[in-house]
Amino acid sequence: MYWARQWSKAVTNASSRKGWDLFSNHDFAHWYDVQLKHSNYPGALLEIIKSRLSKETSLLDIGAGTGAFAVPMARVVNKVTAVEPSLAMAKILLGKMNGQGNIHVVNQCWEDIKADEMGSHDMVLAVNSLYRITDIVSALKKMIALSRKHLFIIMSCKSSFYNDIWHAFKKEAYSGPPSFLNLYNVLCQLHIFANIEMVKIKYNHVCADMDQAVNYWQTRLNLGLEQENSLRAYLGEKLIAKNGALFFAEQVSNAVIWVEK
Ligand SMILES: C[S@@+](CC[C@H](N)C(=O)[O-])C[C@H]1O[C@@H](n2cnc3c(N)ncnc32)[C@H](O)[C@@H]1O
Repeated sequence: MYWARQWSKAVTNASSRKGWDLFSNHDFAHWYDVQLKHSNYPGALLEIIKSRLSKETSLLDIGAGTGAFAVPMARVVNKVTAVEPSLAMAKILLGKMNGQGNIHVVNQCWEDIKADEMGSHDMVLAVNSLYRITDIVSALKKMIALSRKHLFIIMSCKSSFYNDIWHAFKKEAYSGPPSFLNLYNVLCQLHIFANIEMVKIKYNHVCADMDQAVNYWQTRLNLGLEQENSLRAYLGEKLIAKNGALFFAEQVSNAVIWVEK
């Protein structure tokens, strides 16, 4: 089996590719950041990364999003370069910097970045940000070429909440993005035998109230108004009221894959 081809097929067929481009949407970016604030994310994942950092480390965070890793790591190291193609996500990241000037944001997709213009970094990190890249071999080779000491790739395993709600309302199986196993096998076929550790994180799906939850999932799943009542009933069974908000808590396993040079 040629694993890079499998990866490319999974990217192309992923259910999440149907409909709108989530990360470029301001409402979704805000939603994403709220979910993180109520979850133990990046939690233990951040500690693993931090243990490899010192003040002198230069760090490249690919798909930095709203800064879950880039922002706390900028307090530890002198320089962080955050590659983030979505202006909506980058805007939230920049808003968290509070005058801290050591994060440089590059508003581009990883595939479009020229290796010689980016330059090398002690650590290259990509957390849940490779799922839309069809040519994974070129993307990985560039990451390896630009990492002087460590390359870390973190990929979450599937969320049962998302899987189930998709199945219930789209009446088709949810086709997930490529998995960490696929990535690991691509690395093996490049003769790179990486380390791997599985880490569980408690993840909360949160919304202020039922109207917000219905509105969000109706948009995200691209559902017609005729499905509103059944969506409300479904969410009513799943979400639990706590501290003035609605929650669904789940444990998500994350694969931490790393290569030391
Ligand atoms: C699930 S978020 C993860 C954000 C952050 N790493 C975290 O752990 O919270 C994925 C991020 O990857 C970015 N992204 C998507 N495709 C990308 C690409 N081809 N190159 C770089 N970043 C990409 C998205 O814009 C989004 O901000």
